[in-house]
Amino acid sequence: MHKVNKLLLATCLTASPIITHSSAQIDELLNEYQQLGATTFSSESGKTFWSHTFNSPRAPVTRACSSCHTSNLIDSGKHVRTNKAIEPLAQSVNPQRFSDTKKIRKWLKRNCKWTLGRECTAQEKGDILTYLKDL
Ligand code: HEC
Repeated sequence: MHKVNKLLLATCLTASPIITHSSAQIDELLNEYQQLGATTFSSESGKTFWSHTFNSPRAPVTRACSSCHTSNLIDSGKHVRTNKAIEPLAQSVNPQRFSDTKKIRKWLKRNCKWTLGRECTAQEKGDILTYLKDL
Protein backbone atom coordinates (compact mmCIF):
# COMPACT_ATOMS: atom_id res chain seq x y z
CA MET A 1 0.00 0.00 0.00
CA HIS A 2 1.22 3.50 -0.77
CA LYS A 3 2.66 5.31 2.22
CA VAL A 4 0.19 8.21 1.98
CA ASN A 5 -2.76 5.80 1.81
CA LYS A 6 -1.53 3.99 4.88
CA LEU A 7 -1.26 7.25 6.73
CA LEU A 8 -4.73 8.24 5.62
CA LEU A 9 -6.15 4.91 6.75
CA ALA A 10 -4.47 5.21 10.13
CA THR A 11 -5.85 8.72 10.55
CA CYS A 12 -9.36 7.60 9.66
CA LEU A 13 -9.26 4.71 12.08
CA THR A 14 -8.07 6.87 14.94
CA ALA A 15 -10.57 9.58 14.16
CA SER A 16 -13.59 7.27 13.90
CA PRO A 17 -15.94 7.92 16.78
CA ILE A 18 -16.18 5.20 19.38
CA ILE A 19 -19.81 4.84 20.35
CA THR A 20 -20.21 4.15 24.02
CA HIS A 21 -23.26 4.92 26.08
CA SER A 22 -21.52 5.73 29.27
CA SER A 23 -22.18 8.88 31.21
CA ALA A 24 -19.65 10.26 33.67
CA GLN A 25 -22.53 12.21 35.19
CA ILE A 26 -24.52 9.06 35.87
CA ASP A 27 -21.44 7.34 37.31
CA GLU A 28 -20.96 10.29 39.64
CA LEU A 29 -24.55 10.04 40.87
CA LEU A 30 -24.35 6.24 41.30
CA ASN A 31 -21.30 6.76 43.47
CA GLU A 32 -23.14 9.31 45.54
CA TYR A 33 -26.17 7.03 46.04
CA GLN A 34 -23.87 4.28 47.24
CA GLN A 35 -22.37 6.64 49.80
CA LEU A 36 -25.94 7.18 50.97
CA GLY A 37 -26.33 3.48 51.70
CA ALA A 38 -27.61 1.95 48.45
CA THR A 39 -26.31 -1.53 47.59
CA THR A 40 -25.56 -2.98 44.14
CA PHE A 41 -27.67 -1.45 41.37
CA SER A 42 -29.72 -3.59 39.05
CA SER A 43 -30.77 -2.67 35.55
CA GLU A 44 -33.56 -5.29 35.81
CA SER A 45 -35.00 -3.58 38.91
CA GLY A 46 -34.74 -0.23 37.16
CA LYS A 47 -36.65 -1.58 34.19
CA THR A 48 -39.40 -3.04 36.40
CA PHE A 49 -39.63 0.22 38.34
CA TRP A 50 -39.90 2.18 35.10
CA SER A 51 -43.25 0.64 34.14
CA HIS A 52 -44.57 0.10 37.65
CA THR A 53 -47.85 1.94 38.17
CA PHE A 54 -48.37 4.04 41.27
CA ASN A 55 -51.73 5.26 42.51
CA SER A 56 -52.43 8.92 43.01
CA PRO A 57 -55.40 10.65 44.63
CA ARG A 58 -55.21 13.13 41.75
CA ALA A 59 -55.62 12.75 38.01
CA PRO A 60 -54.27 10.87 36.19
CA VAL A 61 -54.96 8.35 38.93
CA THR A 62 -52.39 5.81 37.81
CA ARG A 63 -48.93 7.14 37.15
CA ALA A 64 -45.66 5.63 35.94
CA CYS A 65 -42.38 6.91 34.56
CA SER A 66 -43.56 5.42 31.29
CA SER A 67 -46.72 7.63 31.37
CA CYS A 68 -44.70 10.43 29.78
CA HIS A 69 -41.52 8.76 28.54
CA THR A 70 -43.20 5.53 27.25
CA SER A 71 -41.68 2.10 27.85
CA ASN A 72 -39.64 2.23 24.69
CA LEU A 73 -36.95 4.76 25.49
CA ILE A 74 -35.66 5.12 21.98
CA ASP A 75 -39.03 6.64 21.13
CA SER A 76 -40.14 10.19 21.83
CA GLY A 77 -42.45 10.57 24.77
CA LYS A 78 -45.37 12.88 25.36
CA HIS A 79 -46.18 14.73 28.55
CA VAL A 80 -49.35 13.11 29.85
CA ARG A 81 -50.81 16.45 31.03
CA THR A 82 -49.55 19.05 28.59
CA ASN A 83 -49.17 16.81 25.52
CA LYS A 84 -45.78 18.39 24.89
CA ALA A 85 -43.30 16.13 23.10
CA ILE A 86 -40.39 14.76 25.13
CA GLU A 87 -37.21 13.76 23.32
CA PRO A 88 -36.15 10.10 23.69
CA LEU A 89 -34.25 9.30 26.88
CA ALA A 90 -31.92 6.70 25.33
CA GLN A 91 -28.43 8.04 24.71
CA SER A 92 -28.12 5.78 21.68
CA VAL A 93 -30.57 8.02 19.82
CA ASN A 94 -30.20 11.18 21.89
CA PRO A 95 -26.55 11.80 22.81
CA GLN A 96 -27.43 14.96 24.75
CA ARG A 97 -29.02 12.89 27.50
CA PHE A 98 -27.54 12.60 30.98
CA SER A 99 -24.80 15.17 30.39
CA ASP A 100 -25.67 17.48 33.26
CA THR A 101 -25.85 16.22 36.85
CA LYS A 102 -27.95 19.20 37.89
CA LYS A 103 -30.54 18.42 35.24
CA ILE A 104 -30.67 14.72 36.14
CA ARG A 105 -31.11 15.55 39.84
CA LYS A 106 -33.79 18.16 39.16
CA TRP A 107 -35.91 15.93 36.97
CA LEU A 108 -35.52 12.81 39.10
CA LYS A 109 -36.75 14.79 42.08
CA ARG A 110 -39.63 16.37 40.23
CA ASN A 111 -40.70 13.25 38.32
CA CYS A 112 -40.45 10.93 41.32
CA LYS A 113 -42.63 13.30 43.33
CA TRP A 114 -45.17 13.52 40.55
CA THR A 115 -45.21 9.78 39.84
CA LEU A 116 -44.84 8.24 43.30
CA GLY A 117 -46.03 11.08 45.52
CA ARG A 118 -42.61 11.05 47.21
CA GLU A 119 -38.95 11.33 46.31
CA CYS A 120 -37.26 8.15 45.07
CA THR A 121 -34.78 6.47 47.39
CA ALA A 122 -31.06 6.34 46.57
CA GLN A 123 -31.52 2.66 45.65
CA GLU A 124 -34.45 3.39 43.31
CA LYS A 125 -32.63 6.26 41.61
CA GLY A 126 -29.51 4.12 41.19
CA ASP A 127 -31.47 1.23 39.67
CA ILE A 128 -33.26 3.59 37.27
CA LEU A 129 -30.06 5.30 36.11
CA THR A 130 -28.33 1.92 35.71
CA TYR A 131 -31.20 0.86 33.46
CA LEU A 132 -31.24 4.14 31.52
CA LYS A 133 -27.51 4.46 30.93
CA ASP A 134 -27.22 1.33 28.78
CA LEU A 135 -30.09 2.10 26.42
C1 HEC B 1 -45.56 14.02 33.81
C2 HEC B 1 -44.57 13.64 32.80
C3 HEC B 1 -43.32 12.89 33.25
C4 HEC B 1 -43.27 11.75 34.02
C5 HEC B 1 -44.42 10.94 34.58
C6 HEC B 1 -41.89 11.44 34.18
N1 HEC B 1 -41.10 12.34 33.51
FE1 HEC B 1 -39.06 12.34 33.39
N2 HEC B 1 -39.12 14.10 32.35
C7 HEC B 1 -40.27 14.78 31.98
C8 HEC B 1 -39.91 16.04 31.37
C9 HEC B 1 -40.88 17.09 30.83
C10 HEC B 1 -38.50 16.09 31.38
C11 HEC B 1 -37.62 17.27 30.91
C12 HEC B 1 -37.60 17.46 29.47
C13 HEC B 1 -36.54 16.61 28.81
O1 HEC B 1 -35.48 16.37 29.39
O2 HEC B 1 -36.82 16.17 27.68
C14 HEC B 1 -38.04 14.86 31.99
C15 HEC B 1 -36.71 14.53 32.17
C16 HEC B 1 -36.25 13.41 32.83
C17 HEC B 1 -34.85 13.10 33.08
C18 HEC B 1 -33.65 13.96 32.69
C19 HEC B 1 -32.88 13.35 31.54
C20 HEC B 1 -31.60 14.10 31.23
O3 HEC B 1 -31.30 14.25 30.04
O4 HEC B 1 -30.91 14.54 32.12
C21 HEC B 1 -34.83 11.91 33.79
C22 HEC B 1 -33.59 11.19 34.32
C23 HEC B 1 -36.19 11.49 33.97
N3 HEC B 1 -37.03 12.41 33.36
C24 HEC B 1 -36.57 10.35 34.65
C25 HEC B 1 -37.89 10.05 34.99
C26 HEC B 1 -38.26 8.99 35.93
C27 HEC B 1 -37.29 8.08 36.66
C28 HEC B 1 -39.62 9.00 36.01
C29 HEC B 1 -40.49 8.18 36.91
C30 HEC B 1 -40.24 8.23 38.35
C31 HEC B 1 -40.09 10.07 35.13
N4 HEC B 1 -39.01 10.69 34.54
C32 HEC B 1 -41.42 10.39 34.94
C33 HEC B 1 -41.56 14.35 32.16
C34 HEC B 1 -41.95 13.25 32.93
